[in-house]
Amino acid sequence: MIKNWDEFLLPYDQAVEELKIKFKSIRKEYREMNEYSPIEFITGRVKKISSIIEKARRKSIDAESIEDIAGIRIICQLVDDIPIVVNHIRSRNGKDIRIVEERDYITNKKESGYRSYHIIIGYTVHTAFGDRDILAEIQIRTLAMNFWATIEHSINYKFGEKMPDELRKRLSDAAETANRLDEEMSKLKFEIIDSQEIFMVRSSLVARIIKKIQILYFSGNVPKEEIEKIQNQFYSLREHGSIEDLREMNRNLEQLQQKLYLEE
Ligand code: GTP
Ligand code: MG
Repeated sequence: MIKNWDEFLLPYDQAVEELKIKFKSIRKEYREMNEYSPIEFITGRVKKISSIIEKARRKSIDAESIEDIAGIRIICQLVDDIPIVVNHIRSRNGKDIRIVEERDYITNKKESGYRSYHIIIGYTVHTAFGDRDILAEIQIRTLAMNFWATIEHSINYKFGEKMPDELRKRLSDAAETANRLDEEMSKLKFEIIDSQEIFMVRSSLVARIIKKIQILYFSGNVPKEEIEKIQNQFYSLREHGSIEDLREMNRNLEQLQQKLYLEE
């Protein structure tokens, strides 16, 4: 039996924080490259003490053997993003994580209708009092799978074993509907990725142009009327211009900047 819960849970808490940061940074890298990210968002939690005790008792195991005291959820937009994330995690096996088990509840959905890809990992946390090896569960799922699982979980929690058959059936039907939504979104995969990437490219071009106009303005080398002209051209392109128009404006400003430096 665990005597000091705070001490026991500390490395789990640390692991959740570290893993959240690690997976969030993957998303950030894609973003910075203006590329579609297979990761939409990350959540994580440490299991509540009461749930740990209940699960250890139910399964007749020690708390240390519970795989999901540290839990990370990686939410994707599209079903096809899931294998990308899974392969990424596999590529880290033996580096910062050790894969213990994979459970594919997407190919083999659960009776309830639950779908998700689970990876149980071993993870080492370096604490002030030495290294602690712990287990953690990573659940990888789409927004639709997550929506269904979150709602089903709360209903399940309320009823426990005593969920009425009629409600169970409706939840299982809802899981089918969520599955169909995932399938429909998969058909739009190209459109989704393309439009989201175009949006990112556009916003980063707009940001770069604004920065250049600012530099020109503060250089004091460009007449006010000229700056105003550039600004008006930018406003009009931002509203009505194509990405190519914005690119061209960005290039022209770059040249103007260079020319001014030469004349300095
Ligand atoms: P527990 O279900 O937690 O007792 O663990 P287990 O040893 O049976 O492992 P399993 O892989 O079945 O489930 C691990 C986790 O997946 C659970 O803690 C839930 O977060 C999630 N999960 C599994 N089945 C369901 C389900 O039918 N509905 C929902 N909402 N979540 C599920
Ligand atoms: Mg279970």
